[in-house]
Parts: sequence; C-alpha cells; structure tokens
Amino acid sequence: MNHLPSSPITRRLPWAMLALLAGGFAVFWSPKANADTAQLQTLLQRNNCSACHLIDKRKYGPNLNEVAARYAGNAGAVALLATKIRAGGSGVWGEDMMPPQPTVSEADARTLAELILALKP
Ligand code: HEC
Repeated sequence: MNHLPSSPITRRLPWAMLALLAGGFAVFWSPKANADTAQLQTLLQRNNCSACHLIDKRKYGPNLNEVAARYAGNAGAVALLATKIRAGGSGVWGEDMMPPQPTVSEADARTLAELILALKP
C-alpha cells in the first residue's frame, strides 16, 4: 500500500498550468496584442493625435472605435478621413473643431485612416 504523498506543489501544478494557459489566450485575443493596433498607437503618438484622441475612450475628439463604426462599409472613407486628418474641420461629431495637422505627411494620413477604419469596435 504505497500511497504517493501529494505535495502542495503537485496538487497546485495543474491549476498553475491552467492559469498560465488562460493568461496566454487572454493576451493572444486581446485587441492590444494586435499588430495593427500597435502600429496605430505609435502613429497616433508620433503625430500628437493622442492629445485629443484615444482608441477606446472619448477625449477631446471622438474615440477612434466610434469613428471606425460610423464609416463601416463606406468605400470612400479612407480618402475622406485622410483628407480630414490633414485639413481638420468640425461639425461631424459636434461643435468641437479639429485643427489642421499640416505636419502629418500624406502617406501617414492615409495609413492612419486605414488603421483607424480597420479597428473592430
Ligand atoms: C486639438 C485636438 C485634436 C487633434 C490634435 C487631433 N484631432 Fe482629430 N478630431 C478632433 C475633433 C474635435 C474632431 C471632431 C471634428 C468634427 O466633428 O468634424 C476630430 C475628428 C477626427 C476624425 C473623424 C473625422 C470625421 O469627419 O468623422 C478622425 C479620423 C481624426 N480626428 C483623426 C485624427 C488624427 C489621425 C490626428 C493626428 C494626426 C488627429 N485627429 C488630431 C480633435 C483633434
């Protein structure tokens, strides 16, 4: 009758493995782990958009998930937003005015528009 003593470690190990697995999946599925979102964050910060826009919360301007939802299925949206990003404007989301962003290159404006529209709200 040799009963193996089960130490606290062998008893907890399966749970620890499960927790690790669950954690791994959470990171894998989280939108923040998405490469496009990371690229968008970098561009938003580099071009100082983050002063007014966050992806998932309203700051001064509309949150970018809302922007993606509003233009979902709109074929002309990339061109429209790329232009608006450099020219600024108001009246679409309220009275607040987005100032022109002339230091943003046309290429960056287009990439920003594409990445914003690719968000899955
Ligand atoms: C000083 C604050 C401010 C900064 C800086 C700013 N925005 Fe905005 N943005 C706004 C406001 C306010 C609006 C809403 C304008 C409107 O209602 O037409 C807006 C609107 C937008 C929209 C939606 C446009 C539409 O017509 O639906 C996009 C996309 C956008 N901004 C992207 C950017 C990007 C990219 C940058 C950085 C290059 C940036 N914004 C910098 C304040 C700002």
